[in-house]
Amino acid sequence: MNYPDYNSCILEMQGINKSFPGVTALDNVWLKLYRGEIQALIGENGAGKSTLMNILAGIFRYDKGHIILKGKPVEIKNEFHAQQLGIAMVHQELNNFPDMTVAENIFAGREPSNWGILSRYKMNDLVQKILNDFHLDIDPKRLMRKLSISEMQLVEIAKAASCNADILIMDEPTSAISMRDAEFLFKILNSLKERGVSVIYISHKMDEVFRISDSITILRDGKLISTSRASETNYDELIKKMVGREPKELFPLRSVVPGVTVLNINHLSRGKAFKDISLYLRKGEVLGLAGLVGSGRTEIVESIFGFPPAEQGIIEVMGKQVEITSPRKAIGNGIALVPEDRKLSGLHLLASVLFNITLPTLQAFARKSGIIKQRKEKSSAVQISQQLNVRTNNLKQAVENLSGGNQQKIVIAKWLLAQPRILLLDEPTRGIDIGAKSEIYQLMNKLTEKGISILMVSSEMNELMGMCDRIIALRSGQISKEFNHSEFDQEKILAAIMP
Ligand SMILES: Nc1ncnc2c1ncn2[C@@H]1O[C@H](COP(=O)(O)OP(=O)(O)OP(=O)(O)O)[C@@H](O)[C@H]1O
Ligand SMILES: [Mg+2]
Repeated sequence: MNYPDYNSCILEMQGINKSFPGVTALDNVWLKLYRGEIQALIGENGAGKSTLMNILAGIFRYDKGHIILKGKPVEIKNEFHAQQLGIAMVHQELNNFPDMTVAENIFAGREPSNWGILSRYKMNDLVQKILNDFHLDIDPKRLMRKLSISEMQLVEIAKAASCNADILIMDEPTSAISMRDAEFLFKILNSLKERGVSVIYISHKMDEVFRISDSITILRDGKLISTSRASETNYDELIKKMVGREPKELFPLRSVVPGVTVLNINHLSRGKAFKDISLYLRKGEVLGLAGLVGSGRTEIVESIFGFPPAEQGIIEVMGKQVEITSPRKAIGNGIALVPEDRKLSGLHLLASVLFNITLPTLQAFARKSGIIKQRKEKSSAVQISQQLNVRTNNLKQAVENLSGGNQQKIVIAKWLLAQPRILLLDEPTRGIDIGAKSEIYQLMNKLTEKGISILMVSSEMNELMGMCDRIIALRSGQISKEFNHSEFDQEKILAAIMP
């Protein structure tokens, strides 16, 4: 059998409607999935992708519509029921149990029936087999929170794929994993497909959408725009349908000529994370750090922010040596960090959008300039959330209820508003739709025009090459090569970061 089998429809979602207080998340959405098909589900942040899939996975109830599974109408009652029906989902936000082991996480909710002291051994054994199947070099007995984000994500994927599901839903699986791990995931997907498993794949990365999917479905503002065969559409057409207008140039032209050195780092080292890092950053410059997960790129920016501080080396800001022993010291020196894991360190989920956006401005920067002008704060918060097209009906709304990408925008927005002297961005556009990406790039440019300097970590090579004045390549915690703008070359940079 060659998959997809277009004679065998495994799932139909018919006329699905779903509202939350104040928002229509889905408005009459239809979706058809065939056996062995990989279907990409794309659309801007807040378009309704996760909501539609959460309905299929039994997490949300829908207001109207029908779901037909293998030819029979079904009412999916809850997550467990969905699993029994052969539907597994890897969620957008990692929702694992950090204090349980990898094996316990993989088996959570479906422990072997004779679960007990004895079967723990059996469980670890089983999980070792699953991990081996996926060629994952992770110890089943490790605590989940000891893993990197990329590893956690792979564990979740292995978990879902090991359920023997007929339908596997992946909500932005590669947003947190490295290029190498993504390749790995595509292999897993292809082998699942060969077994006749159908996959619904949510992603903002158009290159991978074209690489792996058979068909592509687009949602916009909760409405179905189209479903097409991947071979019969193209990048520009998709973008136009997704955003509802002609796409802007993704990377704005940079016209800033970098000025004096504002940040100078000499021989910075920290444990096994990174060693002997020396670099400088000039006024108005965008400097990129390229490297694989584990290359030390995140740890370097974290140490520049004092969290945790480096163990050796010298940091100079504006020509003066400074002791950055904590984030407070970093902020005091005009340094801000937009962290990689925004759920853990970037957001107060229960607080409002307004509170989150203006928090650093209030706390750290207004103190120096004196009085806080509340009305001005609010209007700039409104302005920046409009600029980034944050989909919220009200700035008082709790951040928790925003779509994944819109939460990311809030973290970025708050630091863009704070206008520090030096901005450290770790994967600034992860999970962000293409329209908002270009807005963030424009904002970065505007900040540099005002003399702000940016040090950016990114896994997306085109983003680094499109936005940076220089790129530093890292390999195993050390600088392997530096590239000036005129020397940018994807293959050479990749060669410099590969082990
Ligand atoms: N639990 C909730 N309560 C209230 N509103 C919600 C809730 N979950 C989602 N929404 C709203 O429903 C809309 C669709 O959100 P959804 O998470 O499905 O978007 P998405 O397409 O997955 O976007 P992203 O690419 O950002 O993940 C958004 O306006 C969002 O704010
Ligand atoms: Mg989502």
